[in-house]
Amino acid sequence: MCGIIGKVGVGNVFPELLNGLKNLEYRGYDSAGVAGIIDNKIIRFRQEGRISNLEAEVEKASPESFIGIGHTRWATHGSPTKDNAHPHISTNGKFAIVHNGIIENSDELKKSFLEGKIQLSSRTDTEIVVQLMGLFYKGDVISAISEACKALTGSFALGILCEDTPNILYAVGQSSPLLVVKGKSGNYIASDFCAVGEGTDEVYRLTDGEICALTEGSIRFFNPSGAPIEKFPEKAEFSCVAFDKGNYEHFMLKEIFEQPKAVKDTINSFLKENEIVFPNVKLYDNFIKEKLEKIVIVACGSAYHAGLVGKSVLESLCKISCSVEIASEFRYSQSFINEKTLAVFISQSGETADTLAALRLAKKKGAKTLSIVNVTGSAIAEESESVIYTKAGREVAVATTKAYSAQLASLYALAIFMGGIRAAIDTERYKRLVEELRFLPEKIKRRITTLAPQMEELSKDIYKKRDVFFIGRLNDFATAAEGSLKMKEISYINSQSYPAGELKHGTISLIEEGTVVVAVAGKSKVFSKTASNISEVQARGARVILITDESEKDCKVTAEITVTVPETLKEFQSSLLVLPLQLLSYYTAKLRGCDIDKPKNLAKSVTVE
Ligand code: G6P
Repeated sequence: MCGIIGKVGVGNVFPELLNGLKNLEYRGYDSAGVAGIIDNKIIRFRQEGRISNLEAEVEKASPESFIGIGHTRWATHGSPTKDNAHPHISTNGKFAIVHNGIIENSDELKKSFLEGKIQLSSRTDTEIVVQLMGLFYKGDVISAISEACKALTGSFALGILCEDTPNILYAVGQSSPLLVVKGKSGNYIASDFCAVGEGTDEVYRLTDGEICALTEGSIRFFNPSGAPIEKFPEKAEFSCVAFDKGNYEHFMLKEIFEQPKAVKDTINSFLKENEIVFPNVKLYDNFIKEKLEKIVIVACGSAYHAGLVGKSVLESLCKISCSVEIASEFRYSQSFINEKTLAVFISQSGETADTLAALRLAKKKGAKTLSIVNVTGSAIAEESESVIYTKAGREVAVATTKAYSAQLASLYALAIFMGGIRAAIDTERYKRLVEELRFLPEKIKRRITTLAPQMEELSKDIYKKRDVFFIGRLNDFATAAEGSLKMKEISYINSQSYPAGELKHGTISLIEEGTVVVAVAGKSKVFSKTASNISEVQARGARVILITDESEKDCKVTAEITVTVPETLKEFQSSLLVLPLQLLSYYTAKLRGCDIDKPKNLAKSVTVE
């Protein structure tokens, strides 16, 4: 993971690098560092933990350099200590680098090139790269970079300084995102456009091991062998909205409350009159109607849970088999997909390394590819044949809420769209579904405000618990799984989710007097089955919180606590049932004093496998 930034230009770069790093902190926050060149010597500052720690140190030293690189780290190799923090410097002092990605053959490289010659000062794979550059350097920086990078296996976006060329910032991009941005007061490299503080209309993406050399007024590109190449700026529109918590204590709470808008904006982007029209979807009717044999949804984390909901809605409305795969598994499994498969990739960031690799695999196998992505111009969006953009806007909290809800809305629309083409739903049903979809944001909005105090109260019963269980069947299991993930990722309470009927095959042994079981059960044909599972855990002492919809509020289930959400069509229920779960996790984490927006060990964008 990690975020990198670099600038060469007019004025002191350090304040800009630090600001840029703050906007990259979502990529990791284990440690941070910056380096520049002053009087032809590399100068470096590093600190464990948040950027604010680094900022204090840099401010104290008040260094001035017009060239520099910066890094915020999510530890992969080596613990999050100062020694392992980037930038790393070669022993001969010539090179400093920042790195995002993973060098898979770092141990072999260490043995073949460095052992007996160079004493390493960190446990990172990155240090191997900078030492190789130092070793291969014979006066030509591009050659040294090219030679070192050719030896590497894995993914790497690099920002590089060389003491002998104090006016030039170098960069390399191989399977890890790296943008080269022409700015007004100089030129930049960055993992994300948002790290660059100024407007620009020239943005390039480094791919396939390309090398770049930037000065204040020029940008030159080279292929991996070091030969000059021409590159053209990207057409994609890059934009960035300021991060602002407004009156909310945390971004997560703000984003929970932004869900009506996120869902509405997403739906409005493809609802034309009463029809669903996807502007960037290149799926022809005859493929959907006659050729398509199965749908495979691939994603990670919450996006995977959105996929689980999508599966049942697609199967129900399109009458076609659909499977959901975890991207990191899919890419190494026997994926039986071909040109009759539609492979759907769901990703908020559009950058998740495993999802991207799975997309590339699916393309190779001839499947039609469609991605559901929140970030415009991201790698997954760019490389998919078709894209549905969710319109959740920038999501800052690591634990996703509004992007998840926007993903659900997109999947519903995709199912209605394809169900219509396949004639699996008739015109009346199509109309009814679209009508209800349109109402969904209003229903979310109506309930979310009253839910908040209710869930805050309920969290007082939970925050001291050691374990919480989440159960549900079919779609409700997907919602339960998402609720459980939210709970553990931000409150650090051990939580597990199970299909309600599966509990008795092992996990029920963990239920004891007072164990909290959150049962998700919207109106459905399996409601009474979940009700039986609720009784089973209650018989063993569990305290059950039932999350259901208003139509089931008078049901015979006697849960200790019942929380209801507005009624909707069964296909869309997950969008409402997930709301209390998000809020419950939030308030529980708050009572436990957790760092809600930046939970430990996590990052928002996962660009390593
Ligand atoms: C990380 C985030 C999760 C997210 C997952 C997939 O683990 O913490 O919130 O669901 O990555 O990310 P993506 O950007 O592909 O949706």
